[in-house]
Amino acid sequence: MAQVSPSILAADFTNLGAECTMAVQAGADMLHFDVMDGIFVPNISIGLPVLEALHKKVDALYDVHLMIQKPLDYVARFAKAGAHYITFHIEAESDAEKTIEAIRAAGCKPGIVLKPATPVSAVLPLLSKVDMVLVMTVEPGFGGQSFMQDMLPKVSQLKKEREQQALTYLIEVDGGVNAKTAPLCTAAGADVLVAGSAVFLAQNPASVIAGLKQ
Ligand code: DX5
Ligand code: ZN
Repeated sequence: MAQVSPSILAADFTNLGAECTMAVQAGADMLHFDVMDGIFVPNISIGLPVLEALHKKVDALYDVHLMIQKPLDYVARFAKAGAHYITFHIEAESDAEKTIEAIRAAGCKPGIVLKPATPVSAVLPLLSKVDMVLVMTVEPGFGGQSFMQDMLPKVSQLKKEREQQALTYLIEVDGGVNAKTAPLCTAAGADVLVAGSAVFLAQNPASVIAGLKQ
């Protein structure tokens, strides 16, 4: 059964605490927290003070997706603010190994993210060091985009590498995941499904989350 990590980017920001509590009660395994800096991606979202406030109010595993340049400079502060997983982009300006070590040293689980144009080969040397690999199934920067089905071979390849190397990282997919595309992701080997619009814009988020898990 897949885990579901609702992306709070699609939540009602005027009512964020209640929206997150609702998602947890509706069966979310973690909450996906998208951080955008306007430089790595052409959009700006939420950051440290919002995570800190949410973490105090809503007991959940926070799955923090850093879409920022220089993630190494920020991981300790995101850890302190309440992150559980911290994933960062291999394409960002940072020493990836050092960033992974810093995330672990701060007490969090490190993960690496691949943009659509980045092949799995770019992260092969890092696979043994991470707890999660996130395959973007849209261009990062915005919610509500269409799922890129041609990313699924990367998911299968990551599953194969994990088996061959006897590793344990979770494979997460992010972007355009809904009732239609989720089965494709899990069939390819995804363990964690990020879903923003599909969960937060639904009439019945609990039934959507239950459906995604199947
Ligand atoms: C995109 C973000 C995603 C996004 C997913 O840059 O990383 O997490 O919020 O939203 P949906 O599920 O609506 O595609
Ligand atoms: Zn994300």
